[in-house]
Amino acid sequence: MTKLSVNINKIATLRNSRGGNIPDVLKVAVDVQNFGADGITVHPRPDERHIRYNDVINLKPLIKTEFNIEGYPTKRFLELVKKVKPHQVTLVPDPPEALTSNAGWDTVKHQVFLREIIADLKEEGIRTSIFIDTNSENIIHAATTNTDRVELYTEPYARIFPDNPEKAIEPYVEAANLARKQGLQINAGHDLNLENLKFFNEHIPFLAEVSIGHALICDALYYGLEETIALYKAQLNR
Ligand code: PXP
Repeated sequence: MTKLSVNINKIATLRNSRGGNIPDVLKVAVDVQNFGADGITVHPRPDERHIRYNDVINLKPLIKTEFNIEGYPTKRFLELVKKVKPHQVTLVPDPPEALTSNAGWDTVKHQVFLREIIADLKEEGIRTSIFIDTNSENIIHAATTNTDRVELYTEPYARIFPDNPEKAIEPYVEAANLARKQGLQINAGHDLNLENLKFFNEHIPFLAEVSIGHALICDALYYGLEETIALYKAQLNR
């Protein structure tokens, strides 16, 4: 079954909007795991406007499932992940001011850069994933970075899905097959939700993991966190 990693950045954003410690990010992470999520994702940004570097350190002993840290590989980010040693690091090419990740890596241009960082992370025993779009050149060159996985950037899928699900999924099926042929495992994330997740998962039967934040936390306002996680897990049940 495809694993569900819950991105808890939004919980930290809510906390930060008021100062203080409500909601308690650490408690939410523990609860999310107890409610059945297969992992926790965090995305520390340089200005710490969402999850903070200290949160990431404090989360480490509480994560009994899979810990995925995503972000642009600055020196500070790499120091953090080497200290925390999560199960997986997802490298994302977003500039510091980006509202949210809005593109995958150009793996042709950044091949050497990525390869060096990935070698470094693997030496620390950390699995690597790189955020990528469905462009075949990028997928083929992703394999030459020696990454373990790619995370397919699903915003375009989510945008097209309501009007034309078949058209939306087509490039992702092709990209996933190509990546698999290169020996890569496949993750996916961005704008996945209760409407589009099942269809995506059914069309990529070897999908390893999805990481979902925004829609899941918004759904929790209506259904509660426990019920919401159960609903998302049900979409992933093949
Ligand atoms: N994957 C990556 C690399 C991301 O940057 C994000 C957003 O932080 C997600 C997945 C999750 O996207 P969403 O919040 O839309 O579910």
